[in-house]
Amino acid sequence: MSDDSHEHQSFETRAIHAGNTADPLTGAVVPPIYQVSTYKQDGVGGLRGGYEYSRSANPTRTALEENLAALEGGTRGLAFASGLAAEDCLLRTLLAPGDHVVIPNDAYGGTFRLFAKVVSRWGVEWSVADTSDADSVRAALTPKTKVIWVETPSNPLLGITDIAMVADIARTAGAKLVVDNTFASPYLQQPLALGADVVVHSLTKYMGGHSDVVGGALVTADAALGEELAYHQNAMGAVAGPFDSWIVLRGIKTLAVRMDRHAENAAKIVEVLRRHPKVTKVLYPGLPEHPGHEIAAKQMRNFGGMISFQVEGGEEAAVAVCDRAKLFTLGESLGGVESLIEHPGRMTHASVAGSALEVPADLIRLSVGIENADDLIADLTQALG
Ligand SMILES: Cc1ncc(COP(=O)(O)O)c(C=O)c1O
Repeated sequence: MSDDSHEHQSFETRAIHAGNTADPLTGAVVPPIYQVSTYKQDGVGGLRGGYEYSRSANPTRTALEENLAALEGGTRGLAFASGLAAEDCLLRTLLAPGDHVVIPNDAYGGTFRLFAKVVSRWGVEWSVADTSDADSVRAALTPKTKVIWVETPSNPLLGITDIAMVADIARTAGAKLVVDNTFASPYLQQPLALGADVVVHSLTKYMGGHSDVVGGALVTADAALGEELAYHQNAMGAVAGPFDSWIVLRGIKTLAVRMDRHAENAAKIVEVLRRHPKVTKVLYPGLPEHPGHEIAAKQMRNFGGMISFQVEGGEEAAVAVCDRAKLFTLGESLGGVESLIEHPGRMTHASVAGSALEVPADLIRLSVGIENADDLIADLTQALG
């Protein structure tokens, strides 16, 4: 299903067409769900179309992987069973016992748990840095640093890191720069073009876009690194299944229009929150007072659909707002068409309690959906009381 003719097309066109070549058997315009584990060989070793076993490769997954590579401007895309499966494969490919990783002081709790509780058991050391600050990143480096990990915008504090700046530091240090692009999506931000070596995604979020699938991805610029990761993807085996690949590919076709509406709605909600008497702080990179505003404006197409904010009255007040929301569904995850609200301290980021990544107890996180903005504002206003 290889098709490399999408290079010069705009993002919206690539999202719909890259990897989506018509089915060679029937002409179906959407890649079929090849729900199959193995493939008939024409004599021993005589593979039709190169497929022999679906852990190694499956046509529906190939379609998604080609699409992902095209959207991130990379040479290789790889799809996994979840974002964390992708991260695990990446870390065990790039790192060996004795190596060191710099991790951000604000990141998805599950990413932190993978470093702190799993990868560290294999003799990999890690230090925490404020990746928005060049001095903090440089101070965290050791002669054994092999990876610098960046999440921008970060989860849940919406911190912004200058990707090109950290790419320079990584290059000088001989380390690889990994950027988790889940919050932005490739429509809003292109880390490989800014110097990152690997892009990580939780496809569960904006890429899938409908809260109906769990998936993950890696995309690399360097073909040799892509090959090495593909080897480990097969050797470790946490691949995306055919149906999950298909549903993500379907979601991606509307990524651009969804992201525009997510951002438009978020900007309207931010205006209401920043004027609300019970809201003490709004964290959103689109606000001029956000410390990363200028960098976000430079490296992102717009500011996205995620908002965090703090409320008067501490943890109990924040939990009560989450409990009172009706149209905003109380739930983990993000990036779907429906709006979600959550309390990171007790929910998505419970695993960072007591660490350098602990989040404020009065923090609420919103994943702003694509419903009517006035309806969302009415719900938030009643939830704030
Ligand atoms: C920024 C970010 N990265 C990675 C992950 C992990 O992805 P998954 O839940 O698909 O394993 C998440 C999940 O919430 C996330 O928010």
